[in-house]
Amino acid sequence: MTHLRGPFGFVNKILTIFIYVYLGITIAASSTDPLAQQQLDKVLQLPGQNFNVSFAHYAGYITVNEDSGRALFYWFIEATKDPDSKPLVLWLNGGPGCSSIAYGEAEEIGPFHIKPDGKTLYLNSYSWNKVANLIFLDSPVGVGFSYSKNSSDVLNNGDKRTAEDSLAFLLKWFERFPQFKGRDFYIAGESYAGHYVPQLSQAIVRYNTALKEKAIKLKGYMVGNALTDDHHDHLGIFQFLWTTGLISDQTYRQLNLLCTFQPFLNVSEACYNILVVASTEIGNIDQYSIFTPPCPANVSQSNRLKKRMNHMVGHIDMKYDPCTEEHAVVYFNLPSVQKALHVDPAHAPSPWSTCSELVNTNWKDSPRTMLDVYHELIHSGLRIWMFSGDTDAVLPVTATRMSIDALKLATLRPWRAWYDDGQVGGWTQDYAGLTYVTVRGAGHEVPLHKPKRALALIKAFLSGNSTKLASA
Ligand SMILES: *[C@@H]1O[C@H](CO)[C@@H](O)[C@H](O)[C@H]1NC(C)=O
Ligand SMILES: *[C@@H]1O[C@H](CO)[C@@H](O)[C@H](O)[C@H]1NC(C)=O
Ligand SMILES: *[C@@H]1O[C@H](CO)[C@@H](O)[C@H](O)[C@H]1NC(C)=O
Ligand SMILES: *[C@@H]1O[C@H](CO)[C@@H](O)[C@H](O)[C@H]1NC(C)=O
Ligand SMILES: *[C@@H]1O[C@H](CO)[C@@H](O)[C@H](O)[C@H]1NC(C)=O
Repeated sequence: MTHLRGPFGFVNKILTIFIYVYLGITIAASSTDPLAQQQLDKVLQLPGQNFNVSFAHYAGYITVNEDSGRALFYWFIEATKDPDSKPLVLWLNGGPGCSSIAYGEAEEIGPFHIKPDGKTLYLNSYSWNKVANLIFLDSPVGVGFSYSKNSSDVLNNGDKRTAEDSLAFLLKWFERFPQFKGRDFYIAGESYAGHYVPQLSQAIVRYNTALKEKAIKLKGYMVGNALTDDHHDHLGIFQFLWTTGLISDQTYRQLNLLCTFQPFLNVSEACYNILVVASTEIGNIDQYSIFTPPCPANVSQSNRLKKRMNHMVGHIDMKYDPCTEEHAVVYFNLPSVQKALHVDPAHAPSPWSTCSELVNTNWKDSPRTMLDVYHELIHSGLRIWMFSGDTDAVLPVTATRMSIDALKLATLRPWRAWYDDGQVGGWTQDYAGLTYVTVRGAGHEVPLHKPKRALALIKAFLSGNSTKLASA
């Protein structure tokens, strides 16, 4: 396809029709000259940025549905060195309803992290853009800076449309950034992105198959503390809560009886009631990182429970700041920050929040298992890695191990410790078609708690070789 090129600001309307063959739906996309738009999206300097960076970065919207006016907001950050030879990684946070910019960029794997004043930035020395070009996507509409002109869209999000819109986003993003077409591409994410990541991977694989060409050169994906299979995840969560001494024997039995066959996002009243009992027994700890103190800012018990039940990605700690989420709320609500990131004032959320309750509570579809998608994608030859921070009680190490066990994969290399700076960084096992890695001492947001180990993890993943995680 040829691009109509013009000077900046000169509007060349082109209509690009992608026939989304597999699903039989049509995505109509119109935009200004993509290359001109790329230049317009370039971010020059961020408020509170008292340092220079060696890499370019871009932020803006991609319209994924013209009829409804759904536009997804992205922040694309090039690699610190040799972006032309580094792979491309899309990062997704979960919720559903949480912003990948709030969590992924600003407190996990991105370069720009926020100081406690909520105004000043510092450079994250373990940013994953040391090894890859990073796209952070606020998905779906109603999350972060992503919006729809059709207000009922925000009340009708679900897994299916999220995958379709994310695929439409990628196809159009590669039009805007043609220099990255054909680049090795990976998807990574955590928590509820345990649904988004395999579902989007499946949509890409099927799209490529229908087109008989690799429109998007997807090589693999990696998910952390990921919702994978409602039944096995529930079993693993309750086992973890009991084993770590957070709940009583009686409650453990009741949870197993009343909750293990419930859908994760929509439990029965009986299950809900015993979850309330469990939450009361657990008390006021950070369930996303059970051995570190929570942010002292008021977090009501019922809110914590809701967050736990909906697995919104959560709070932090120790030598990290348990309140980083609060700093993001200050920073991304600053008009100067929104302006620098090219947020459209006409569609800016007021206020911007890290997670959208509205999106979360109106979620429409959420399959009970991803295991069938795993089987399909393992068969397709994708590189698939899963990881767990082992101090998270929300989607704990036991949950993921039970879900992996349910895949019934042969073991290629047995369970073993891996090392970082002479210390055990965690444990790992290679299966036929899947590699599993735990990160010792990390909570739900692994790169927040253990940034150095997380960087070792992404390096090993991108190399495709788990022995890159050093042995003793
Ligand atoms: C950033 O670069 C500009 C232009 O090269 C220079 O004037 C400025 O001093 C640099 N700032 C820092 C903090 O290094
Ligand atoms: C607005 O959104 C709703 C729900 O997502 C959808 O059913 C409807 O078709 C949309 N309207 C238009 C004009 O696209
Ligand atoms: C939630 O579960 C109830 C019954 O337990 C059902 O009536 C309702 O439709 C479900 N909602 C969703 C969004 O699946
Ligand atoms: C904490 O809760 C109290 C009582 O509900 C409220 O007045 C106060 O503003 C809250 N503080 C913060 C930081 O939210
Ligand atoms: C993985 O890396 C190890 C050590 O770096 C090397 O010995 C091995 O051959 C590699 N395996 C593959 C499949 O590349």
